[in-house]
Amino acid sequence: FNTIDDLEVEGKTVLVRVDINSPVDPLTGLLLDDTRIRLHAETIAELANKGAKTVLMAHQSRPGKKDFTTLQQHAEALSNLLNKSVGYVDDIFGSNARETIKNMEGGDILLLENVRFYSEEILQREPPQQAETHMVKLLSPLADYFVNDAFAAAHRSQPSLVGFAVNLPSAAGRVMERELKALYSAVSNVERPCVYVLGGVKVDDSIMVMENALEAGSADYILTTGLVANIFLWGGGVNIQKHNRKFIEDRDYCEYVKKARKLCKKFRDQILVPTDLAVCKDDKRLEYSVNKLPNLPIFDLGTETTTEYARVIRNARTIFANGPAGVFEKEGFNQGTEDILNAISSSPGFSIIGGGHLAAAANQMGLSGISHISSGGGASISLIAGERLPAVEVLREADLNI
Ligand code: 3PG
Repeated sequence: FNTIDDLEVEGKTVLVRVDINSPVDPLTGLLLDDTRIRLHAETIAELANKGAKTVLMAHQSRPGKKDFTTLQQHAEALSNLLNKSVGYVDDIFGSNARETIKNMEGGDILLLENVRFYSEEILQREPPQQAETHMVKLLSPLADYFVNDAFAAAHRSQPSLVGFAVNLPSAAGRVMERELKALYSAVSNVERPCVYVLGGVKVDDSIMVMENALEAGSADYILTTGLVANIFLWGGGVNIQKHNRKFIEDRDYCEYVKKARKLCKKFRDQILVPTDLAVCKDDKRLEYSVNKLPNLPIFDLGTETTTEYARVIRNARTIFANGPAGVFEKEGFNQGTEDILNAISSSPGFSIIGGGHLAAAANQMGLSGISHISSGGGASISLIAGERLPAVEVLREADLNI
């Protein structure tokens, strides 16, 4: 695929898809971490310094979730990091956004509104169909190039990720370039035993990855943490109690409990589930065996489980980890996530960790023994497990002479 080196951007309008989807405090709505914003700052600064009119598109969270916010504070954070004013419009492709783009000058940077405020953005379809969406049809005529730097969202076939490359000369940004190089080189040489640590709340991605890796025989052990673990415990017949079942039901994840049951039966020796967990009572951490759980929210792995998981991680030659082990941002419930990250960091095996939250936790801990911290969670783990990434495929096919 093409990179920024192949583009003559001076005075040109460059539409750049970045992934600055960041942890946001559900109560205050404030950004908790700027790891992804920092990463993309390099691509953005390079384009602006070369005299491009840089128009940024990004998403934050998913409709219906508490951290589904506008991108105003992301623009402020980016301005501070770049030490340069970054414009922001609360519009994606309406007349306000289009007029603002038309009035830009070389070197200017503008961030458009959260693209997922627009309903067509969350439909996953093939690139030619996405090229026909309102957003792509209205913004494409204003741009000379499309740059995709959003590696972390490259497993989604959504309009802002795959639609523009159909009609505009396109290239990969620096984050995309670096991630693809690191990950393709990692998967070309996987030493065994190979362990996947799958956690967080994006159960859909984790189950798909697990199925692929186990069916292909490329994973020796899967350590389940976070919500993924609760689903596997429930699927395996453990009473995780009403509160935690409701949490899963409210997210429409019941179909994954059935899938988990099937996977557990087929791969019972490879899929590891927690033997103890930490629940939250009056803001305090209490640990219980999984067979004696009270009806309280599960917020973390228990100590016995992290000790066992750390042993498996220490003996692994390759470790891929995605998603935190619990509600690590809440005081008293970061132990599981930190113990797992410490085990990965001190393991002699080659390791890749990913996901906005896990990468943020690793960065905050200042760990140095991890081989590659990927900005992508679902994207990196999907690539590792052999899935095709639609946004990368379309970049490969993109023609600079369109
Ligand atoms: C991520 O954080 O994994 C990416 O930003 C993609 O977000 P999504 O899972 O909501 O599509």
